[in-house]
Amino acid sequence: MSSLLMTGIGQLVTNDRGIGDGSALGVLEGAAVVVEDRRVAWVGPAHEAPVADAAHHVGGRAVIPGFVDSHSHLVFAGDRSEEFAARMSGTPYSAGGIRTTVAATRAASDEQLAANLARHLGEMRRQGTTTVEVKSGYGLTVHDEARSLAIARQATPETTFLGAHVVPPEYAGDPGGYVELVTGPMLEACAPHAKWVDVFCEDGAFDVDQARAILAAGRAAGLQGRLHANQLGHGPGVQLACELGLVAVDHCTYLSDADVSALAGSGTVATLLPGVEFSTRQPYPDARGLLDAGVRVAIASDCNPGSSYTSSMPLCIALAVREMRMTPAEALWAATRGGAAALGRDDVGHLAVGAAADLVVLDAPSYVHLAYRPGVPLVHQLLP
Ligand code: NIG
Ligand code: FE
Repeated sequence: MSSLLMTGIGQLVTNDRGIGDGSALGVLEGAAVVVEDRRVAWVGPAHEAPVADAAHHVGGRAVIPGFVDSHSHLVFAGDRSEEFAARMSGTPYSAGGIRTTVAATRAASDEQLAANLARHLGEMRRQGTTTVEVKSGYGLTVHDEARSLAIARQATPETTFLGAHVVPPEYAGDPGGYVELVTGPMLEACAPHAKWVDVFCEDGAFDVDQARAILAAGRAAGLQGRLHANQLGHGPGVQLACELGLVAVDHCTYLSDADVSALAGSGTVATLLPGVEFSTRQPYPDARGLLDAGVRVAIASDCNPGSSYTSSMPLCIALAVREMRMTPAEALWAATRGGAAALGRDDVGHLAVGAAADLVVLDAPSYVHLAYRPGVPLVHQLLP
């Protein structure tokens, strides 16, 4: 087993309070890292670094943990640029657009879906994402949901069954019948390929009783729950997530004081998806209010062809800082360790000894450049 010493790190973000400046980001200047067997084996000041089998000098650049994108919908086919253009001319976003992608996804071959997924994952990786969650939800038949998840599972262990994305057209007159399909044969076919079960709990999608039933069935099939909630308006989804002790509830755009209190009093991570508000012209979530209330916040891309067609975590960080009043440090933490928390993972999103060695070298002297230089490709290299 050979070891690699990465040295010449101008600024290292470890996300470990015990390292460096004592902040949540655990920032160490003039650092080195030893990687062995794809794990961090040593981290500390460069002048104290041990000898390793090989060495790599990063030229004074900043190094951060790879982004953990805890929310994406990448098994799809088709394009909705016309819908986006109409939105920019004033047509509001609605959940109904999902059905356009459902039709295109059903018509695509497994090979086309896998190639589209691989293309988007490549895009993500080039922008510094090293862990990604992928949902189904554009198939909405037993066969199409199961194949979506089987394809996603080839790429990531973080797969989510989202048969409850919207009621598909063939069940328009019988939403109860669709919930029975989702909680019965569809769940049975999908559970072997999924870690999570998710529901879009919103007017126009699934109500709180349906969400409760689907999450309970998912849990009985061995899946952990997460929710899309409070995206398009106020509703009961966030409080349901807190009541059930879900690992994460995503969107959180429209929150009452009671929602914020429920989140603050729970272990549930609030995942904010600023690409959605950017691409739908909705108001951004109140990240500042959530953080000040003590809520654990994650940032993710929600990459999908409808509400947020960006694969860029650096863009999401820049939006979180500029539009949601997060500090650059809070935004980077939320996009790395926060995303890991939203996936119940402790092995990624930080660079303490024993963690996965997902190191991103930035073409910048400091992580602040992620927000300071929006739109600029700052990822120099992914190591090892
Ligand atoms: O997370 N909210 C539901 N699902 C996606 C949007 C999907 C679409 O518009 O195709 C979301 O925003
Ligand atoms: Fe989503």
